[in-house]
Amino acid sequence: MIIYKSEAEIEMMRKSSQIVARILSELREMIKPGMETRELDAYAEARARQLGAVPAFKGYRGYPASLCISVNEEIVHGIPSGRRLQEGDIVSLDFGVVYEGFYGDAALTVPVGRVSDLALRLIAVAEKAFYRGLEELKVGNRLSDVSAAIQQEVEGAGFSVIRAFVGHGIGRSLHEEPQLPNFGLPGHGPRLKKGLTLAIEPMIAAGHWEVEVLNDGWTAVTRDRSLSAHYEHTVALTDRGVEILSLDQVEGRGTGRSANA
Ligand code: MF3
Ligand code: CO
Repeated sequence: MIIYKSEAEIEMMRKSSQIVARILSELREMIKPGMETRELDAYAEARARQLGAVPAFKGYRGYPASLCISVNEEIVHGIPSGRRLQEGDIVSLDFGVVYEGFYGDAALTVPVGRVSDLALRLIAVAEKAFYRGLEELKVGNRLSDVSAAIQQEVEGAGFSVIRAFVGHGIGRSLHEEPQLPNFGLPGHGPRLKKGLTLAIEPMIAAGHWEVEVLNDGWTAVTRDRSLSAHYEHTVALTDRGVEILSLDQVEGRGTGRSANA
């Protein structure tokens, strides 16, 4: 069952999502070659608590950290550690909090120093695919219209869409119905209506979409070890159209759309 949200509930989700947006912006600015990924996790957790929120992922199905940090061929659910980031890496940061009972969830992929043109293009396409999907998020459309648009954008750029993980409804739970695959034929699934709140999150690979989970039980990597990128926002469909709740409101920074997307 899809839980449609009132304006008041969407306002609550705006608050939790803005905390996520702000912290992801700060993390993005912090990323430097040589730093340990666990430093980013420690910052995210402390900052969330300072802002009155609780990290959403820690303890979720036993996940051991607050921030998912996935480097290069890692797609999602990478575990922060003593691993040091190196120039040329791309690092996906996925963060969620719960604030006064409502969840916010967002992700982005950040280049570490100078990276390859392929890496930059992959990052840009993940973001572009999110926005292409968002264009289809309008009253009267069907849910899979969003999925199909994302797939078309990604495959049109010569990349592939990860099948094993999907976007999701979000609200008083981190994961609510409906599931939102990043692939599929248009014209299927529920009709979109006011009050729908979703985490739309294309996860893409430069090579094949097949996934393998490492021995830590969490880190999902591309089977062919090709690079992967992730871009996610919590969004709401309202009377005024679609709103990206987790877009950082500070101009010129954050998880907003970059100039080259
Ligand atoms: N953004 C991810 C999701 O929507 C975060 C979950 S990671 C987990 O599923 F560690 F909490 F499982
Ligand atoms: Co999510």
